Amino acid sequence: MKLAENKATLSFSNGSPSIDMPVYQGSVGPDVIDIRKLYAQTGMFTYDPGFLSTSACQSAITYIDGDKGELLYRGYPIEQLATNCDFLETCHLLLYGELPDAAQKADFTKRVTNHTMVNEQMQFFLRGFRRDAHPMAIMTGLVGALSAFYHDSTDITNPQHRDISAIRLIAKMPTLVAMAYKYTVGQPYMYPRNDLSYAGNFLHMMFATPCEPYIVNPVLERALDRIFTLHADHEQNASTSTVRLCGSSGTNPFAAIAAGVACLWGPAHGGANEACLNMLEDIQKMGGISKVGEFMEQVKDKNSGVKLMGFGHRVYKNYDPRAKLMQETCKEVLHELGLENDPLFKLAMAVEKIALEDDYFVQRKLYPNVDFYSGIVQRAIGIPTPLFTAVFALARTTGWIAQLNEMIGDPEYKIGRPRQLFTGNVTRDVKPIAQR
Ligand code: SDX
Repeated sequence: MKLAENKATLSFSNGSPSIDMPVYQGSVGPDVIDIRKLYAQTGMFTYDPGFLSTSACQSAITYIDGDKGELLYRGYPIEQLATNCDFLETCHLLLYGELPDAAQKADFTKRVTNHTMVNEQMQFFLRGFRRDAHPMAIMTGLVGALSAFYHDSTDITNPQHRDISAIRLIAKMPTLVAMAYKYTVGQPYMYPRNDLSYAGNFLHMMFATPCEPYIVNPVLERALDRIFTLHADHEQNASTSTVRLCGSSGTNPFAAIAAGVACLWGPAHGGANEACLNMLEDIQKMGGISKVGEFMEQVKDKNSGVKLMGFGHRVYKNYDPRAKLMQETCKEVLHELGLENDPLFKLAMAVEKIALEDDYFVQRKLYPNVDFYSGIVQRAIGIPTPLFTAVFALARTTGWIAQLNEMIGDPEYKIGRPRQLFTGNVTRDVKPIAQR
């Protein structure tokens, strides 16, 4: 970042001395006002619950232009990456800053492939869960538990440890997600296969059984790989900020990523894909497209607490570019499976059309986000609804690690410790219980 010619001056109507604060510029996007000395100079904090106007860090990984609906990973538009690269190339880009050449891609793929198995003891963790446990409950436990197995890569200040734990996490997340699924359906776990692609191996571990050969469908394999790319990173979203704050204490990478898994689960965040599909199924049960208007009235009624899941975004005030690519992926998968007339996809497109023409959504700049179509395509592939967010976590693990490593490598980083505006009781004395 570089010091801007501009600077900010804060003055007070009560005659307190005004202060000047430096303004910094990035390579693109809004400038920032450096308020780090504000408390020392004024005795006051800023107030920004939800961080609507607060940048918590500087980063060179992902840039979003919310007004234009643009998303760049290390400067490359998501549309180009989703079309011209695969997920492991995108992982290399996010982690190391550049797309790999052929030799680097082969080496990175080999490293990831050779770490896809998990310690045999991991299967005994799962036995502690009920068979009907939500997969994200299982994943929160399993990812944190990885730190119990890899003591040789838990020192986050050691670059070698950071690199091998990144490879281990990227490699093992598909295995763990598939294990969480197999456990809930009572089928045996399928070991990873080194002869399959990253996405193909996940399909194999999810849907193969020991009873017969499983052939990976290349269209589904490519679609799933693209879904992973679309979910890989997204600037300082809630779960990434959780990983950064958790990692800022110096805890091990597995624990920090487990914190991200837990945060992503929420329906306002990564849990929205599951909630969106359930919402579409509810509208279907109500009567389908003919009932969309009635449902929209509920959404617009503030007292209903009903939201149009898969719509709206803190940053995008235009169409989420990932949603467009997800819709295209939907069409490819449904065509491959002969499901072009899938009623839920038709319902989703009708909901989108109606919402985008409705003043309530237009005024608030509410557009489909990444979660609006992702459930439909995952359901078509055969992934059960409760597993959608675990698939999101699988893909986002690379972004979380890249952001965590960037923070640890930033000489300016300190443990995160926000302050507050205190509105509670000031000092008072405890009375004996007889007088309370
Ligand atoms: C993800 O941050 C990221 O980058 C996240 C993510 C990533 O890749 O990491 O992109 C992934 O989490 C996508 C978002 C998935 N969530 C959903 O689809 C859930 C539904 N969406 C909403 O909950 C909401 O839009 C949020 C949480 C996504 C954003 O909320 P904000 O930015 O806090 O906006 P807000 O709640 O202040 O909404 C502004 C207005 C409000 O109405 P008014 O008070 O102005 O009258 O828009 C309304 C909201 O009530 N609104 C919605 C709505 N989203 C916002 N009304 C109906 N349905 C919705 N979905």
